[in-house]
Amino acid sequence: MIEIPWDDLRARARHATASSYAPYSHVTVGASGITSDGRLVDGANVENASYGLTLCAECSLVSDLVRQGGGRLLAVSIVAGDGEPIAPCGRCRQVLYEHGGNDLLIDAGEGRAPTPLRQLLPDAFGPDDLGIRRSE
Ligand code: THU
Repeated sequence: MIEIPWDDLRARARHATASSYAPYSHVTVGASGITSDGRLVDGANVENASYGLTLCAECSLVSDLVRQGGGRLLAVSIVAGDGEPIAPCGRCRQVLYEHGGNDLLIDAGEGRAPTPLRQLLPDAFGPDDLGIRRSE
């Protein structure tokens, strides 16, 4: 079982905020995660002049994960430009669920117990539902 390097994840997430592209909201967000085989993946938010097309830092992190060959996420830290953890938005909870499931740990800040994704996204819809819900 891997010990989660929360300090490293937080530091990497903070570092990632520097590569954020957020000219519209000016809310820079960085994310860093660790996989079950110990790899580290990172992301930052990427905004767009067509505001609704913005990619959150977590989407960027998942893209890094898949680009590295995929794997299972164990823990993720997401921070804003002030260096403090932020709650993942609803869409990103679903995006993270695909790659980490119910047990994925989300950083709640220094000195606070991490929050399992099942608590942030109860009764999630996931890959297992597809096979049993097809009409044919
Ligand atoms: N943002 C993220 O990157 N992740 C979240 O979970 C919440 C919001 C970004 C999107 C946008 O660029 C900025 O924060 C303000 O909403």
